[in-house]
Amino acid sequence: MPDTLIEAESVNRRYQQGGVSVIALACATFRLYAGDRVALIGRSGSGKSTLLHLMAGLDVPTGGILAWPSLGAGETLLPGKIALVFQVPSLLEPLTVSENVALPLLMANATCDISRAVADSLATFGLESLARKLPEELSGGQMQRVAMARASVGNPSVILADEPTGQLDQSTGRALLDALDAHLAGTRTALVIATHDPAVAERMERIWQIEHGALIEAVAAGERI
Ligand SMILES: Nc1ncnc2c1ncn2[C@@H]1O[C@H](COP(=O)(O)OP(=O)(O)OP(=O)(O)O)[C@@H](O)[C@H]1O
Ligand SMILES: [Mg+2]
Repeated sequence: MPDTLIEAESVNRRYQQGGVSVIALACATFRLYAGDRVALIGRSGSGKSTLLHLMAGLDVPTGGILAWPSLGAGETLLPGKIALVFQVPSLLEPLTVSENVALPLLMANATCDISRAVADSLATFGLESLARKLPEELSGGQMQRVAMARASVGNPSVILADEPTGQLDQSTGRALLDALDAHLAGTRTALVIATHDPAVAERMERIWQIEHGALIEAVAAGERI
């Protein structure tokens, strides 16, 4: 049995807005295992980003139990053990592409050759020519590729990617996921991708669908839940 990285039991997230309770996520029960490849699908506003933020320890559930059995406490996860690719642009504006990609390694006091690791990561995602550019000089799709390079450079146990191909044309999106696959080959890194693109979802081994606020495993490996 592979390591359980994230375990959720009836997790929910509500917000209070002007005295009204907004349910962002009604109920999620699942286990994420080392090496998993999961597509998280559901209509706009169904709670995908909310769930990814909870899984990353960036947000706290209002109910249910969420644990990281082999990773540790929720506040220790980002960016070394779990890497999150945000749905919205998240590169640090004053830093170059290379400096942005180096950030997780610097924050983790990595002992590896950081310049080398950054150069390898930029090469993996075809970003060498952008190394010295600032985020404001990039297209939306280029920013997404840099964010993916930044997420994967430190070889985290989990990568949570929130619509990482949302701004890419189909062939560039495919190339991004091919590069990520190649980078993850032979590792035990688990990958969860929120997506509206059926072609992206089809590449994953498991499909988690959020319907009416509840997460259900739509196909495959149902016995694992
Ligand atoms: N900070 C917040 N305060 C109040 N409501 C919120 C907040 N964040 C999210 N919501 C609400 O929670 C619900 C789920 O939002 P979420 O961003 O998780 O959806 P999503 O599935 O990622 O949508 P999309 O596909 O459009 O990215 C939405 O109704 C949203 O308006
Ligand atoms: Mg979202």
